[in-house]
Amino acid sequence: MNYGRHCIDQQDIDAVVEVLQSDFLTQGPMVPRFEKALADYVGAAHAVCANSATSALHAACAALEVNAQSRVWVSANTFVASANCALLLGAKVDLIDIDPETGNITPQTLQHKLDNTAQEHWPTHLIVVHFAGNSCDMKNIAGLVKASGCRIIEDASHALGAEHDGAKVGACCYSDVAVFSFHPVKMITSGEGGCAVTQQGDVAMRMRRFTSHNVVRDPDELLAQGHAIDGDWFYLSQAAAPNYRMSDIHAALGLSQLHKLDGWLTKRRALAAYYDQCFADSSLMPLKQSRLSSYHLYVVRLPEGAPRKQVFRAVRQADIGVQVHYIPLYRHPHLPQAVLPGCEKYYQQCLTLPLHVQLDQADLDRVVAQLDHVLKEYS
Ligand SMILES: Cc1ncc(COP(=O)(O)O)c(C=O)c1O
Repeated sequence: MNYGRHCIDQQDIDAVVEVLQSDFLTQGPMVPRFEKALADYVGAAHAVCANSATSALHAACAALEVNAQSRVWVSANTFVASANCALLLGAKVDLIDIDPETGNITPQTLQHKLDNTAQEHWPTHLIVVHFAGNSCDMKNIAGLVKASGCRIIEDASHALGAEHDGAKVGACCYSDVAVFSFHPVKMITSGEGGCAVTQQGDVAMRMRRFTSHNVVRDPDELLAQGHAIDGDWFYLSQAAAPNYRMSDIHAALGLSQLHKLDGWLTKRRALAAYYDQCFADSSLMPLKQSRLSSYHLYVVRLPEGAPRKQVFRAVRQADIGVQVHYIPLYRHPHLPQAVLPGCEKYYQQCLTLPLHVQLDQADLDRVVAQLDHVLKEYS
């Protein structure tokens, strides 16, 4: 039993086979269709798919002009991709502490860091991570930095379908861009894949170009730039950039999965509520949820001082695929070595339990009983 798992049915297989038998395996109609469906679902004007959320984050940073002069602040409790996207563009990355009860940065942890930083070193960009699928307090976080011109990216890799103030995460009410992941352990999958959504047309255009060699094909635009057009085939690459395009094969799978998302969210939330009920009188502390979560992950904190290393190993030996999310960014040797007590406290205690749509209450009962048994053994 893994902590997360994809769910593929005949409809998904048929959708992929249809593309395999069509004229276009890539750069056909499926990516634009998937993008339109995603934009409509989250309430964004534009969606730009990429071959992973890591690529989409890189494109978002490039489009928001992250460069060697940028100061990019990132939540310390996240996967390395949330910070590497800025490092790849030469920016200076700094880390923000989290609330150990939610795993998220808060207006208070951000304010603390701002208070301890000279104003000329305040962030040019903020990458906010909605850990486990529970949105951060975007309104108040944005309120602290927007006046200084800071651009905001939501790393919503965990949060497709989550809500914030009555809107879907991705509506970008308080941010410039939000990024989703379609890795198989996430809410829906396209195999590998990701998407950046925005309300801003110019940002969407820059992201799209970045994911495809920064190529410009529009003759009017090229003429306006002073280039001669050799013929109808003509295009020019405007700066070095990668090929991060999603293929139509992946988009077909993602689109087929998107139709099932709402049903799966209901199931994830029901399973999470069942775990909550099981842990109501236990020493294990589920993460606090302040908003409607997509429940990518279900995380508990072990009692302080519990031997997590042994608990992790013993539970794994019973074929229950617990995990630890995340090793704090400051522990990775290429990232700033910050001292962040909230994140460290969270990291020492956290354990991710299995949660995906192919589990049922009996599976969760087995997880809860095994954890109980192992904790008793080590107490
Ligand atoms: C918070 C976060 N950001 C970014 C990523 C990168 O996603 P992908 O694997 O689609 O590149 C992940 C992947 O797990 C993630 O959890």
